[in-house]
Amino acid sequence: MIKRSLEDGIPATTQDLKQRNEELVLANERLVVDQRELLRQQRLAVLGKLVATIAHKIGTPLTAISGHLQLLLEDPGLSSDVNQRLQIIFRQTHRLNTVMQDLLNFARTPTLSLEPVSIPQCLDQALQLFLPIFDKQSIQLSTQYDASLPLACADCLQLQDAFNNLIDNAIDAMPHGGQLTVSARPQESQGRVVNEAGICIEIHDTGTGIPSDCLESVFQAFFTTKDIGEGTGLGLAIASEIVQQHHGKLSVESKEGKGTTFFLWLPAWNEKM
Ligand SMILES: Nc1ncnc2c1ncn2[C@@H]1O[C@H](COP(=O)(O)OP(=O)(O)OP(=O)(O)O)[C@@H](O)[C@H]1O
Ligand SMILES: [Mg+2]
Repeated sequence: MIKRSLEDGIPATTQDLKQRNEELVLANERLVVDQRELLRQQRLAVLGKLVATIAHKIGTPLTAISGHLQLLLEDPGLSSDVNQRLQIIFRQTHRLNTVMQDLLNFARTPTLSLEPVSIPQCLDQALQLFLPIFDKQSIQLSTQYDASLPLACADCLQLQDAFNNLIDNAIDAMPHGGQLTVSARPQESQGRVVNEAGICIEIHDTGTGIPSDCLESVFQAFFTTKDIGEGTGLGLAIASEIVQQHHGKLSVESKEGKGTTFFLWLPAWNEKM
């Protein structure tokens, strides 16, 4: 006698097959997603090598040009007109050097040295660098760190690189001033390892916000809405890479005209690590 399932009257063997088929479809979907992610990673790795080679080839003569310019600028016999022109060349060369350095940083896969890190200390050190800009651009800073925060399992210097990029963007989004709120609270992961102890850092600005049709693209390398020379579109790609290396998560919520919040989740330090 064939057993029948109570809900729909389909024979139990058919029900089994149906369930297995559904599982197979799901597994296939996951495989496609993983394969696409692998291809993306491979493309990025090739692109990274190419970028590193080009940055290196351009960076070396640029450094030499900057050195010679600096020597020329030290000549006391220069007319003020020539001095001014040299200053402009020097500033532009410096800018090119910074772009090259950004590209090299992006292309290099960082090797992390993970240790127990106090997130408030790490955040405060990053924020410290920007205090003069906050002042100049009328940005009010407020920090809120939960007293029961666990230590994070992190590389503080690498993390600061990620924070710097997020803070930099917040500053760009508030050219006429605003409020920057940086907070950290304990939060369990809802990601791959569910209920893993961790820390959620929020960096909130009251700036221009991100149009909803751009939200998907902001983490992609070379996506920028800034003018040429103002942005390379690498800041968030670098931040996201650093967070992924920490087995963390970076996400964003934004409302055009209201502001933006970046959420950065990091795993807590665990004695067994
Ligand atoms: N806090 C923010 N407020 C508004 N827009 C933002 C914010 N953060 C990022 N964006 C948007 O995301 C884009 C990508 O940011 P990302 O940091 O990757 O590159 P960038 O700032 O344009 O250039 P780079 O960081 O390389 O100098 C920005 O051009 C901007 O449009
Ligand atoms: Mg940026």
